[in-house]
Amino acid sequence: RTVYLKDYQPTDFIIESIDLVFDLGETLTTVGSEIRMHRRPGADPAAPLVFAGDGLALSGLALDGKPLLPERYDCDASTLTIRDLPEDGSFTLTIKTRINPSANSELLGLYRTSGIYSTQCEAEGFRRITYFYDRPDVLAVYTVTIIADKQSCPLLLSNGNLVEEQDLGDGRHMAKWHDPFKKPSYLFALVAGDLTMIEDSFTTMSGRHVALRIYVEHGKAARAGYAMDSLKRAMKWDEERFGREYDLDIFMIVAVSDFNMGAMENKGLNIFNDRLILADPETATDDDYARIEAVVAHEYFHNWTGNRITCRDWFQLSLKEGLTVYREHEFSADQRSRPVVRVDEVKFLRAHQFPEDGGPLAHPVRPTQYLEIDNFYTTTVYEKGSEVSRMIATLLGPDGFRKGLDLFFERHDGGAVTIEDYLKCFEDATGHDLTHFALWYHQAGTPVISVASFYDERKQQLKLTLSQTTPPTPDEKIKKPLHIPLRVGLIGPNGADMAPTAITGGESRKDVLELTKDEQTFVFEGIGARPAVSVNRDFSAPVKIRFDQSREDRLRIAGAERDLVARWDTVNALALEVLVKAAEDVKAGRPVTTDPALSDLLVATAEDTALEPAFRALALTLPGELDIGREIGADIDPDAIHLARNTVIEAIAEAGADSFAQLTGDMANGGAFSPDAQSAGRRALRNAALVLAAAAEKSPRRASQAYESADNMTDMLAAMRVLAHQFAGSAEAENALADFRRRFAGEPLVLDKWFSTLATVPGENTLERVTKLMGDEAFDEGNPNRVRALIGAFASSNPTGFNRPDGAGYAFFADFILTSDKRNATLTARLMTAMRSFEALEPSRRALAREQIERIAAHDDLSRNLRDIVDRMLKS
Ligand code: ARG
Ligand code: ZN
Repeated sequence: RTVYLKDYQPTDFIIESIDLVFDLGETLTTVGSEIRMHRRPGADPAAPLVFAGDGLALSGLALDGKPLLPERYDCDASTLTIRDLPEDGSFTLTIKTRINPSANSELLGLYRTSGIYSTQCEAEGFRRITYFYDRPDVLAVYTVTIIADKQSCPLLLSNGNLVEEQDLGDGRHMAKWHDPFKKPSYLFALVAGDLTMIEDSFTTMSGRHVALRIYVEHGKAARAGYAMDSLKRAMKWDEERFGREYDLDIFMIVAVSDFNMGAMENKGLNIFNDRLILADPETATDDDYARIEAVVAHEYFHNWTGNRITCRDWFQLSLKEGLTVYREHEFSADQRSRPVVRVDEVKFLRAHQFPEDGGPLAHPVRPTQYLEIDNFYTTTVYEKGSEVSRMIATLLGPDGFRKGLDLFFERHDGGAVTIEDYLKCFEDATGHDLTHFALWYHQAGTPVISVASFYDERKQQLKLTLSQTTPPTPDEKIKKPLHIPLRVGLIGPNGADMAPTAITGGESRKDVLELTKDEQTFVFEGIGARPAVSVNRDFSAPVKIRFDQSREDRLRIAGAERDLVARWDTVNALALEVLVKAAEDVKAGRPVTTDPALSDLLVATAEDTALEPAFRALALTLPGELDIGREIGADIDPDAIHLARNTVIEAIAEAGADSFAQLTGDMANGGAFSPDAQSAGRRALRNAALVLAAAAEKSPRRASQAYESADNMTDMLAAMRVLAHQFAGSAEAENALADFRRRFAGEPLVLDKWFSTLATVPGENTLERVTKLMGDEAFDEGNPNRVRALIGAFASSNPTGFNRPDGAGYAFFADFILTSDKRNATLTARLMTAMRSFEALEPSRRALAREQIERIAAHDDLSRNLRDIVDRMLKS
């Protein structure tokens, strides 16, 4: 059942158009599909037509209007094969299937939840609706007729333009939609139900008037405003930055409450998880606002990178996802603070992609085989893919990148293409040779770059020796050197950048060194004094840097580096080093050594009003227990890390007690709430300071007051987290938690924050609470957001609670996984990846974790999704 890239073959038949008729019923929906097609010129004239299906029941099949005799076809739940079709000339195939949208708990294909019919077809959901060439290289024009009950489904939506509406009498009505753009089946969408909407409009650069609509549940319209505002900014930005214009007269977004992923870029009809649309100050945090802005833009940007130009096959997934994430990141950087946005990306990549790349599930940005494509919507394909496009931009410069992308749009509009096609555009547009660079797509693993510097005062030279290695991954032991753009800064004794008169030893472009070999020495000429070397500025490459730098140099960078990403990175690395050492102390039974210089640095950075508050907040937020564990890498003892981190926090908190207390007041935003990045930055600094102020005071009082006086969700949640996590069991904590539960009783998305807060309370007692919370009436095992908020948060973000020494956390999780797999395999397989780094635990926990993963694997009726994940986890 494994699918291989090398087996790619175009289809034997070409689809010209598909007309779909949906007669919607809660438990019985009939789907009529009329497909105009012909045999591909040059294809085997005897080749049968083979369509994919998934759990379908066929109820009718006709060729050019005449029912097909049973001997002409074979059909089962997963395949429809038709023989003796015309050798040439067009013909029409009519297929009727019956489906039950209410029983569709996988939330793939057409499903009905909370009274709404909606679809999710990427990657292979369309085959759960009707038999078809459900693959991205088959592009067709779709016309969709929806028939439904008028009262329960006043709203009938699909892709493209509305071309007809009719009252059918007997309480039913119909709507017909036509999408003039050819598209693959994964971009098909349908929504029907009773929803309200907000409307706005956008006029494109060439003067097209576009109606913008966002559909949400009744009563939620007031919370869709920020998403609409984000959409308009994204449309404008894509015109200005990349010359991309919208191409239909209407653009719709629908927010649904049961959705496996974040959102989906269906042509003209994006469907969103409602948590990525709905926001107001009382219910959404600043992080929620930022995510909404980013994801609304991401899905909109797909209209060109994904929809107008799509993937030839699913191995090319990063062609659309990596590039679109990169476009999204650039948009966020332009809307907010560029370095702060970049630091968040770096943190995300290190927290999620690096462990993936270093564990049993490692795979290249462009994989060569898969068992279940759903399991490849990964941080490697998305975020590392984005970094690869960013590196192309760094190597070619902004103009070169734009030229290459312009050529890509011009050359491949309307196509289903490959990563090679993408790279070729940059080569043809700029004359750069990307042959070596392309290895980034094919080689898994995170490169490690070791740096050694030598300053020669007499020659006024700085020599930088860089060597790279990539550790083995399950698919490949021996790695080749990559083409790595490394942005480097030389910081002089006065804190200013030093400009070399020349750089030799390899290619370089301004401050970017191009590392291409295992080892290379670059020589910077005309350097008048020994500089502090800042490597990987702006995180120019997704690599790990090993640089045994003097403490003096690191403090110079931490205090004066003008590249704020590198500056944060150094502050963070200094903190991480202290924390790792402290964890070693605890493990060895030694008293914990703290570091006054670190406290001084953090306090000084927090107080530095020349820096923006959001940056100061980042610096002040110490690496988490998971970050420390990842840095240690092996033989991890979560309890030791927890204790060590608390000890270090206390030392820092005491050293800066007055400043932190002061900041919790200074950073209060007067006046009405605004979600803009600057106001959010002030809140972030205030709340980062609150964590430390409360730790210094060893009292829940300040957080309790902050909770009481909060007039927005960011501050309220931050205060509740301090109470729940730092003062667990206190009356103040329990009061705030009870108040929150009561206050937001009717707000499932807000209660997700409550579930997550409780699921991540450190310590072994949390398991009991999580078990109890599964019985809370707000918890719903069928809703992916609830599951992720409670079970997902517990398994992936509570190191001491989940990794209880007795293994009860793993056993609980395995039980949940086994039940959940029957309901929703996509969600369950993703949840399971929370345990992918179990090999890095200390031996006793490692054995207990393995036992539970093996218990899951021993079941012979697992979904393909889950089977794939657990088998890969156990194989390495
Ligand atoms: N294309 C969507 C996005 O990134 C995600 C779809 C996820 N689908 C899946 N089967 N995992 O915008
Ligand atoms: Zn995407």
